[in-house]
Amino acid sequence: LDQTEGITLKKDGVVGTRVMVYGRAHTVRKQKDVFFIELKDGYGKMQCVLSGQLAKTFDAITLTRESSMMLKGTLCELPAGARAPLGRELQVDYFKLPKNGKAAGGDDAITTRVAHDTEQHILLDLRHLTLRGDNASQVMIVRDQVEWAFNTAFRELRFRKVSPPALVQTQVEGGATLFKFDYYGQESFLTQSSQLYLETCIPSMGDVYCIEKSFRAEKSLTRRHLSEYTHVEAELDFITFDDLLTHLEAIICRVIDLTLSDPTIAAHIERLNPGFTPPARPFLRMKYSDAIQWLIDHKIENEEGKPHEFGDDIAEAAERRMTDIINKPIFLTHFPVAIKAFYMQKDVEDLRVTESVDCLMPGVGEIVGGSMRIDDWEELMAAYKREGIDPAGYGWYTDQRKYGSSPHGGYGLGLERFLAWLCKLHTVREACLYPRYMGRCTP
Ligand code: 4AD
Ligand code: MG
Repeated sequence: LDQTEGITLKKDGVVGTRVMVYGRAHTVRKQKDVFFIELKDGYGKMQCVLSGQLAKTFDAITLTRESSMMLKGTLCELPAGARAPLGRELQVDYFKLPKNGKAAGGDDAITTRVAHDTEQHILLDLRHLTLRGDNASQVMIVRDQVEWAFNTAFRELRFRKVSPPALVQTQVEGGATLFKFDYYGQESFLTQSSQLYLETCIPSMGDVYCIEKSFRAEKSLTRRHLSEYTHVEAELDFITFDDLLTHLEAIICRVIDLTLSDPTIAAHIERLNPGFTPPARPFLRMKYSDAIQWLIDHKIENEEGKPHEFGDDIAEAAERRMTDIINKPIFLTHFPVAIKAFYMQKDVEDLRVTESVDCLMPGVGEIVGGSMRIDDWEELMAAYKREGIDPAGYGWYTDQRKYGSSPHGGYGLGLERFLAWLCKLHTVREACLYPRYMGRCTP
């Protein structure tokens, strides 16, 4: 047996070959005097069978689920009618547990506690273990693929990746959700968005993007708000608002295609979200004012329990109902100036509204927020004033409007929200390795 071969069994493992595999026992089942172990690693599972004397030795050590082990054996065809991952099983003739390989056990006690844990606190306290389950691990594996797909799709479009700072002294999306901290005696914040920095990069690097953490001190517990989330952001130079929408549609669809191009990933998504099909293009485009009318027509009220009016923020509940009824992606555009961020360009045809877009997905609602940016110096100064922002700390951002300004725009996409939509997750927390939200900063 060659020690270097067959560490992870690939699908083309040939029946009759003797291989060595490492992994952890996902399940251990005893039937008569035979042990069936579903061995797993990050790439898949394999059924391993121990019988005869080997099974007796195995029995003596009372093997627990999640114990790690090395098994050697021969790949065999399955008996008629039997099913197993890979369509083969390993007839084991040798096994060894590494030092400390045996798992503590007691999973049944955990399972019982978890069953009564409607808020999922225990599941999240034990995230380091629950991550090993099929659902959690598959979501993390899909997430890895989606990040790869974004990097690939951006590269295909000749975007360059940059890495803006997380420790900042400027706000982007309003003071209410800033995490403040003391930076050598100066008040500073964890970044809410890398947008302002991306805007400064386009003259030197062209269209740019980043995939970085953003932080929001969200003081509410919802299915789609995190305190720390992964933000896919891009900035495009010399574009129109229409170009921005076309690009957004293209990148979302390309990322889905790339994600599904790996059959293992496609199978995970099908299992998590049965019947998922990529959305058709073009996406439905709906102006904010038409959405307000739609909400009035459908008798969906605002947060105060009154009929919606122009100027209202469309709150999460109303937005979700609208998206679920329409049941396909929506580009909601042209939000009023008063309810949007300071940097957004006004629509020249209706100065009450901005060239802004939210992309809404069924089951989640907003997954993307984007806009054209104010490119005029005086207009930007007026916007700071309106928002109560002291322009002193923003000189590096404002300067862009003095040194070769351009019509430009961009967007931010919440990776966890994208995954919640793609994998039909109940909350964005399930799309995080170790979620952070109000009340949780561990493990
Ligand atoms: O709509 P937002 O606040 O827009 C911005 O931050 C822009 N500066 C981005 C840009 O143009 N470069 O956030 C963008 C997206 C939202 O659509 C949502 O998907 C996600 O970021 N997001 C959150 N995801 C999880 N938890 C939170 N608390 C989030 N806040 C925003
Ligand atoms: Mg938004």
